[in-house]
Amino acid sequence: MGTGPQQATGEDRKLQEKLRTGGEIPRHIAIIMDGNGRWAKKRGMPRIAGHTEGVESVRDTVEACGQLGVRFLTLYAFSTENWKRPQEEVSLLMRLLLKALKDETDRLHTNNVRIQTIGDIAALPQEVQNELLDDIQKTKDNTGLTLILALSYSGRWDITRAVRNIMHDAAAGLTEEQVTDELVGSYLSTAGVPDPDLLVRTSGEFRISNFLLWQLAYTEIYITPRYWPGFRRDELYAAIRDYQKRERRFGMVSEQVRTPPGGDTHFSRLIKSVTGL
Ligand code: FPP
Repeated sequence: MGTGPQQATGEDRKLQEKLRTGGEIPRHIAIIMDGNGRWAKKRGMPRIAGHTEGVESVRDTVEACGQLGVRFLTLYAFSTENWKRPQEEVSLLMRLLLKALKDETDRLHTNNVRIQTIGDIAALPQEVQNELLDDIQKTKDNTGLTLILALSYSGRWDITRAVRNIMHDAAAGLTEEQVTDELVGSYLSTAGVPDPDLLVRTSGEFRISNFLLWQLAYTEIYITPRYWPGFRRDELYAAIRDYQKRERRFGMVSEQVRTPPGGDTHFSRLIKSVTGL
């Protein structure tokens, strides 16, 4: 097993260095990969051609995130609502996912990537479930990027499931006073994962589309008109540069979040405790 992601080379390495010195690299990036169908349609190709090219975008994005030192990358690969698509497309998407996992896991493992999933995994075809379980098991001790695949996932599904489990535990003694923000977070499928710092959405739509509803409370949002199959690391770098220009106030005022040189203010400590940063 390798110890770190393969290094970027040449010009790309310089760009990555510039990003690292230009500000903070987001610890957790979440992506709504949208526009595969439109990308294909524009080229007179079947929708699946867009999904296939979308896998290339996934590959490049995962590699770049690993090299940059991003800790968590969550990809909205298949939503609860996506089950309503024509059966043929659903089945092609599942086959594509299976193939991508089979083709890529060894390389991800060599690059120290840990694979995880969120969502109703039991709803996926058995073959996909088995592959995912193998891949999660195989990469579980890796210490580089954690790649979280959101599959048969939706934010409402996640919250509803958490409420059910809280009610279940209430019957076993969990009290009303114990139900805090932190406790609710610990019942979500992302328990233990810091909330996303940056959400990227492709294809120019201004929607959250039932993604990480609870977890995106203070996330910075970057929307690009590019369709997902046309997304490559240059656009990821643009998103990170944009993120680095933002001031994250978490509901406070500007003066409160600015740390004096060398100082550690009450508010910066508060932010650290809220975000885990
Ligand atoms: C959105 O485009 C894309 C999807 C619903 C599926 C994303 C899946 C992949 C990129 C391939 C497999 C994923 C992994 C993680 C290997 P759309 O079909 O909604 O496009 P449209 O809005 O233009 O119709």
